[in-house]
Amino acid sequence: MNAPIPASGRARAAALLSRLESGLAGQSRSSTAGARLVRAPGRVNLIGEYTDFNLGFVLPAAIDLEVWIAFEPWDRPEVELTSIELNETRSFAFAGLAPRTERHGSWIDYVAGTAWAMIEAGLPVRGFRGVLNSTVPVGAGLSSSAALEMASSWALADPTAARPTADRMAVVAQRAENGYVGVNCGIMDQFASAAGSAGHALLIDCRSITATPSPMPPALSIVVCDTGAPHKLDASAYNTRRAECEEGVRIIAEREPGVKSLRDVDEAMLTRNRNRLPEIVGRRCEHIVLENSRVIATVAALRDGDLDSLGRLFAASHASLRNLFEVSSVELDEMVDVANSVPGVLASRMTGAGFGGCTVSLVERGAEESLRERVMTEYPKRTGLTARVFNVEAVDGAGPIDVS
Ligand code: GLA
Repeated sequence: MNAPIPASGRARAAALLSRLESGLAGQSRSSTAGARLVRAPGRVNLIGEYTDFNLGFVLPAAIDLEVWIAFEPWDRPEVELTSIELNETRSFAFAGLAPRTERHGSWIDYVAGTAWAMIEAGLPVRGFRGVLNSTVPVGAGLSSSAALEMASSWALADPTAARPTADRMAVVAQRAENGYVGVNCGIMDQFASAAGSAGHALLIDCRSITATPSPMPPALSIVVCDTGAPHKLDASAYNTRRAECEEGVRIIAEREPGVKSLRDVDEAMLTRNRNRLPEIVGRRCEHIVLENSRVIATVAALRDGDLDSLGRLFAASHASLRNLFEVSSVELDEMVDVANSVPGVLASRMTGAGFGGCTVSLVERGAEESLRERVMTEYPKRTGLTARVFNVEAVDGAGPIDVS
C-alpha cells in the first residue's frame, strides 16, 4: 500500500514531480504511464558496529534523511535517471550489466547494481525514466548508497509481480553492493532502509536476518553530528577488519567444534582461546563478542528507560571501536567528547564504519539545541573543521508514496 505524502514532504514531492514533468515534456510517452514516487531512508546505527558480517546483532534506525525518486515506467529495458543535486543524467540498459571494475565509479552504479542483483535473483525488473533527489549526506556514514539501492529497487520492481519481503530485498541490495559495486559490507544498512519502523530502532539478528522493532522512548531524541571529515569507507581497511575476524573464527573453531562465526563465541570461549590468537586478531574478536552483548543490553535499557546504562554502553562501544577495533578517528573522539560535556546528552558514540563520518547521541528532548550550539562552536576550535548537526526521527522503511 502506498503511504500518503507526509505534510513535511509536500513541497519536495511537488518539486520532484514537476521536474519529472518538464524533463519528459515533448518526449514520446507510454499512454498507460503515470508518474510514481518512491522513497528510501538512510540509517543511523545506535549500537552494534561491525557485528553484522559476524552474524551478530545491530540496532540501527531508519531516519528522515531520505532518497526520493519520481519516475515514469518505460517500455524499454533501460533506466535514465537525473540527479537533481548533481544536475547529471545517467543511463544504462539491463542487457549486458556487469560488475563494475573501476575503483571509483558513479552514483548510477548503485542503481545499475540493484538492477543487476534483482535480475540475478530472478526478480522481474522494468525500465523507467526519473529524477532523483537525496537529503542523505554522501560520505557521512548514514548509508546514502543503501538508501539509493532500496529506492531503486522500488522503482525497478515490476508492479504486477509480488513484492519480495524486506529481508529478501535487503539481501538482494547487499548483493548489489558486494557483487557489483565491490564493497564487502554486511546486511545492516540495506535492511534498516528496507524495514525501518517509525518511532523505533530495529534489533536485527544478522544470522537469521530478522528484525524486531524496539520502541524509542518518547523522552529521547536522536542527534547525529557529522565531523566533516569524510568517512572513507576505505574498502581495504574494512575488508582487512573482516579478514581478521574470519581468522579469529578459523583459529577458535580448531578447538571449539560448532563455531562458524564470532556470533557463536562467548566471553569464556574467547578467554580460553585468547593466547592462540595473534594479538590484533584477539582484540578484534574481543570487540565483536562484547559489542553483541552491548546491543542486547541497549535494547533492555531503552525498554526500561535505564538512561545511565545507555550512557555506559555507548561509551564502552566507542572506546572498544577506538582501542580494540581501531576504526575511530581524532575527529570522532573530539565530537563524542564535546557531546558528553553538554547537559542532557545521555549517550554518545561514533556510528557506522568510522574513519570519519558521524557520531550518534541520545539526548533528552529539549536539549538538542544546546548540543547543536556547543558542537558548532567548540568542535571547529578543536579540529579546524565545520560540523553539521541533524536532529533525526526514526521513520518507516522504503516504499512507494501516493501521488494521487
Ligand atoms: C558499514 C557497512 C555495514 C556495517 C558497518 C559497521 O556501514 O556497510 O554493513 O558493517 O559499516 O558496523
